[in-house]
Amino acid sequence: MKTEIIFVDNDVDEEESYAQAVEILLSGEVVAFPTETVYGLGADATNAEAVGRIFEAKGRPADNPLIVHVDSKETALEYVQEVSAKALQCMDAFWPGALTLIMQERPGAFAKNVTAGLETVGIRVPNHPVALSLLRKLQLPLAAPSANTSGKPSPTLAEHVYHDMEGRIPLILDGGATEIGIESTVLDTTCEPPVILRPGKVSKEQIERVIGTVRTSSGNKNNVPKSPGMKYMHYAPTAPLYLIENEEGLIEKAIDYIQEKGKTVAVLSKTEYPAADFNFPLSMESLYASLRKCDSTDADLILASVEPGLQENDALMNRLEKAADHKWFS
Ligand code: TXA
Ligand code: MG
Repeated sequence: MKTEIIFVDNDVDEEESYAQAVEILLSGEVVAFPTETVYGLGADATNAEAVGRIFEAKGRPADNPLIVHVDSKETALEYVQEVSAKALQCMDAFWPGALTLIMQERPGAFAKNVTAGLETVGIRVPNHPVALSLLRKLQLPLAAPSANTSGKPSPTLAEHVYHDMEGRIPLILDGGATEIGIESTVLDTTCEPPVILRPGKVSKEQIERVIGTVRTSSGNKNNVPKSPGMKYMHYAPTAPLYLIENEEGLIEKAIDYIQEKGKTVAVLSKTEYPAADFNFPLSMESLYASLRKCDSTDADLILASVEPGLQENDALMNRLEKAADHKWFS
């Protein structure tokens, strides 16, 4: 299969591009598209065969449910039931935006493989003009996980999607770099108090200002996870990644130590380390691109500099710890 990339940024043939994407989606194929968080791999959420192609293209385990994207609160409410008052308040406060709400699915609303057999479903309204235009023209809900190979960093550029999905999907809509750079916050609203299953740009504090106390899930590897996706290895670059505290010259010492053993080292950090073999930026917006850049070097080992203060950034720390499989350099 040939993978086509169409620019939808300031494309003169914009209508034609969307028409092509809609036609492909209606035929049961998948199309990658930009959202404000990361690129998604979309398929008609009511068509089991189409949804199956997402799992196939990503190599994603079938027990990991997908997020459904819709164009508005009104559309979302057609597919769910027993929606809590807090869920409705969150929709009004954060949609369109980077907050996915887990709610009770209306039986039969989506193809069974979207929810991996659960009775709940995660839904959000993306805040991106391309995603919204596509949803409005398609007039169907789009199941869309991040458009990366399962286990790899999520794509923040169309070229990341192309790297992972070339030959596996027919079309990528290129809307440039995604603004936020990590996936949406996932909030389970089927329990009381609601629980953050995955931290993201929409913070616990922002949510609490709207609906009061929420809990955060422990993410303990050995527990049966409430959010099935949390148990899998994630965002991992090829070379082993270690977190390292940025204090008392520890990073310089680590670089020396690694290079003395004849190995090369890449550093992810806010500031450059001249002694390192490779340096890449570290922020929410740049994390995934930097992890992918590490893969294009021959670095034997990657160090991610955890600055004082970074520990308070739940969302970024969550992705870093997963990418490092919780390893700290010592
Ligand atoms: O920002 C995002 O959310 C991106 C863009 C494309 O919208 N999408 C995304 O989807 O990150 P995905 O499939 O890679 O992540 C879905 C997460 C997983 O951790 C999954 O386990 C959880 O949401 N999830 C989905 N449905 C769920 C449900 N019914 N109950 C609990 N967790 C659920
Ligand atoms: Mg993902």
